[in-house]
Amino acid sequence: MLTKEDNELLTQTGPGTPMGDLFRRFWMPVLLTEELPTPDCDPVRIRILSEDLVAFKDTDGNVGVIDNYCPHRRASMFFGRNEECGLRCVYHGWKFDINGDCVDMPSEPAESNFKDKVKITAYPAREYGSCIWVYMGPTELQPALPEFEWARVPDANRVVTRFIQHSNFMQATEGEIDSSHVSFLHSAFDLSIDYHRDMRTGDEKNDRNSVLSYKFGAPQLTVKETNYGFTYGSRRGPEDGNYYWRVTQWMLPMFSLIPGPAWPRGGRGWVPVDDEHIITYQYSYNAERPLTDAERARAIDLMELEHVKYALKDGKIIDTYRSVRAPENDYLIDRKMQRTQNYTGIPFGRHQDFAMTDSMGSISDRTKEHLGTSDTAIIAARRIILKTARDLQEGVEPYAASHPEVFHIRALDIVSSEGDFVKLLEADDQKTLADV
Ligand code: FES
Ligand SMILES: [Fe+2]
Repeated sequence: MLTKEDNELLTQTGPGTPMGDLFRRFWMPVLLTEELPTPDCDPVRIRILSEDLVAFKDTDGNVGVIDNYCPHRRASMFFGRNEECGLRCVYHGWKFDINGDCVDMPSEPAESNFKDKVKITAYPAREYGSCIWVYMGPTELQPALPEFEWARVPDANRVVTRFIQHSNFMQATEGEIDSSHVSFLHSAFDLSIDYHRDMRTGDEKNDRNSVLSYKFGAPQLTVKETNYGFTYGSRRGPEDGNYYWRVTQWMLPMFSLIPGPAWPRGGRGWVPVDDEHIITYQYSYNAERPLTDAERARAIDLMELEHVKYALKDGKIIDTYRSVRAPENDYLIDRKMQRTQNYTGIPFGRHQDFAMTDSMGSISDRTKEHLGTSDTAIIAARRIILKTARDLQEGVEPYAASHPEVFHIRALDIVSSEGDFVKLLEADDQKTLADV
């Protein structure tokens, strides 16, 4: 459990909060590149770290991310006209470029220099790894983009989806590093079928590792702190003299890599919209070859997404994707399936996760938890991110933010006779370093 004060420190990412300051040291994905497909295309509304913003692509193809509210009298720039290298507010015509400079102010006399004194907040933005990324921190500390393997492979080797979830970033993150829930939440009653992957497609082949994961419900966890966050080994077994190891990474401030027995592999990042919503970026990639059409379609179709204008709790609208399985329809739970096939009555793993982490309330009350040995990684993540946020308030910059090469890492999913986590990582043929 956490104290009320630590829970607030952990979960609040708005302007001026310690955790918000920490997030603002890192580049974050804020859109898919396909959402700003061409120069002068339609602007898109987003909210990031409780700041309402508008993203647009200018005539030269450069991406701008600016304040949603026009600095004149606060009309939304979403309704702006995207024209000749700037977004023009349609209320009185003030026009801003991607740097936030006011380049035209037709409502003032021609001889006025008022426009030179007015700026709109603008954040640096880049296209990278099928996403549009933004940096919202101090200009003098702007780092290079993080060198994730998934972002650096050719576009054809990768698929990224994004979708809204109805909770704070941290409880979704905690679900990701919670290896023991795989044996329960994502399991099925018939172990000969890998329901986590196959329940709806039915035609994929079963894999032994997933079955082992369901069979051994109490994995032994070892956490190794690193300069990017931590890596942890989840050991199940032994069976026939071998252990089933899943080696997962949690990377500051909120990215993961998920082990899998074969390509494609992936992970997720949870970008705070505000303290009660997140957009999850889910990446899947093959480092060795382009994804097939079937692999790409599967990653998208399983999520059951629709593109929506979504009203946040305060009534403001953002443009996003969301799953049709949502809190207001109980994630389309099938109680018959729950009695006969799996614990949840929800067929796909991601939606099973949604139901659990959303159901805690948008900000989980961690003063009322009872953590066990299976929560070792979650306890470590909280300790590390709280310390990193506190250190930043004392002037210690987060190492990972300015060292993009620390993200050259891979998750691991193997069966091995090695029972020691550190030795497993040292073994020559089991490198978790991505050679990219
Ligand atoms: S409110 Fe935008 S130009 Fe007046
Ligand atoms: Fe899960």
